[in-house]
Amino acid sequence: MDANNGGQATDRTQAETWLAGKSEQDYSRRQVLSTAGLAAVAVPLVASAKSGATRKAASLVRRAGKSSAPQPEQVHVQYGADAASQAAVSWAAPAGVARPRLRLGRPGHGHGLEVHAQERTYTEALTGETVWTYHASLDGLRPDTQYIFEVTHEGATPVPGMFRTGPSGRSGAFRFTSFGDQAIPAPVGMGLGPNTPNAGFIVPAVESQDPLFHLFNGDLCYANVSDQPVATWTSFFTNNQRSAANRPWMPSAGNHENEVGNGPQGYLAYQTRFELPDNGSPEFRGNWYAFTVGSIRVISLNNDDVCLQDGAFSGFRRDNVPGYTANGDNPYINGYSSGAQRAWLERELARAQHSGDIDWIVVCMHQVAMSSAHFNGADLGIRQNWLPLFDKYGVDLVVAGHEHHFERSFPVRGVLSGSSLLTPAPQSSDSALMDTSLGTVHMIIGGGGHSTPTPASGFDMPHDGVLITSVGPGSPLAQHPSITTTEPAPWSAYRDLQTPYGFASFDFVPHEPGGTTSITVTHYGAALRSPVYAPLDTFVMRKSLNGSRREAHTAGATAAS
Ligand SMILES: [Fe+2]
Ligand SMILES: [Fe+2]
Repeated sequence: MDANNGGQATDRTQAETWLAGKSEQDYSRRQVLSTAGLAAVAVPLVASAKSGATRKAASLVRRAGKSSAPQPEQVHVQYGADAASQAAVSWAAPAGVARPRLRLGRPGHGHGLEVHAQERTYTEALTGETVWTYHASLDGLRPDTQYIFEVTHEGATPVPGMFRTGPSGRSGAFRFTSFGDQAIPAPVGMGLGPNTPNAGFIVPAVESQDPLFHLFNGDLCYANVSDQPVATWTSFFTNNQRSAANRPWMPSAGNHENEVGNGPQGYLAYQTRFELPDNGSPEFRGNWYAFTVGSIRVISLNNDDVCLQDGAFSGFRRDNVPGYTANGDNPYINGYSSGAQRAWLERELARAQHSGDIDWIVVCMHQVAMSSAHFNGADLGIRQNWLPLFDKYGVDLVVAGHEHHFERSFPVRGVLSGSSLLTPAPQSSDSALMDTSLGTVHMIIGGGGHSTPTPASGFDMPHDGVLITSVGPGSPLAQHPSITTTEPAPWSAYRDLQTPYGFASFDFVPHEPGGTTSITVTHYGAALRSPVYAPLDTFVMRKSLNGSRREAHTAGATAAS
């Protein structure tokens, strides 16, 4: 499966040689930060849900094949650990193919370099289908540079895409975007999985923002509740190819990526389909990872390792995966890494904290540390396992999903005095301008497209937080029920009770006059079946560049009142 390491080493040398021979071109910046404003994003209605929103997108139009060979599909880009020099392009094919490869180029220069792709397969436990995926890893790229590529194999018609590498250090401003809980734009199979037209509409809405990259906060397509999980993944990647073939979409694994029976923790499809930065644990590849883009260190976590909630249970898979009981299949995987993820996280955070090149730490994860909705609720396991580390090492921003609405916190650090629930303590009360050297801003951006958004009736008035504190009896055959409680929510800075769907954009400026750095956030929201995503909320995170993290977080875990 990973038999091409020698070839990759050769490819890197070829890449460096080829790229060094190209003259630098003056590409205008794709991120127009100063003029982006707050205009609504009018998304062209490319197709109805019934007709399949993705098949008409320009990047997906298949030219006639040269033969009967299966065609590349589901193309998507990822960054490597260093976004300035590393990327990977992944795709799938409906059958095994010969000579899978990527041709890399620069606009105006054609495709000058050919890179062999690795084949990775898995067999879906529910249906017995084998899925073929291909991954071309690229290294030695130039910072802040636009690349074009096409992926192909023997007998196929090439499929094009592009991406831009990250700037080096503090050399450039850029935009990124984020949401979670997307699902798919139209039903597949028996229609058991969530689907809405908005799961289609949000893709061109994100694309219209021209982000450098996108953070996907878990619960990608909900294949674990479908009778046709492979077709669900195909729908998901086909729908998103309109953007994900043009810029990296970097995921975190949510509870619905756990497809019980597919590998020890159910993540085999997720792990096979993505090519993500190495985390040093082959058995948990892709479940958690980190990458640097500009002066931001992004850390992706898999929260099912620490969450109390039994969130991956699927009655359909329990009843229909062959050998479910005999195989010992169990979707409840709390504690599955035996502390390996937490140890890795602390090493990563310590390294970022002490790096002179990192000004911001952004965590992308799925389940949340705070929520004011009676939907899932926040999870005490996250507070116990992650928040002390976020405090100690000065995480600036957390983007999450799981709760299917939009909500954000003040900067939080420590816990409310005397709180047995570890309720995070706000460190400021300005909801428009926040200094993240004081604490971590948490955002719930869970309106990607799921057909069950958090209802307005799920919010207490006045304002309570909702927390899962434990689970009741359960088994691989019966889901553990969540046991929840309510709590004060002084951490809550803003919540949207009315708008079911949306995403956030983040305009990052690495240094400003006066010695500060900032991220300006805008949340774009849309109604059900509306392709128009309008700006509904905006705020700024700003802090000093002078020792912002290292000094401010020395007393990180001190309890606050
Ligand atoms: Fe979800
Ligand atoms: Fe979820």
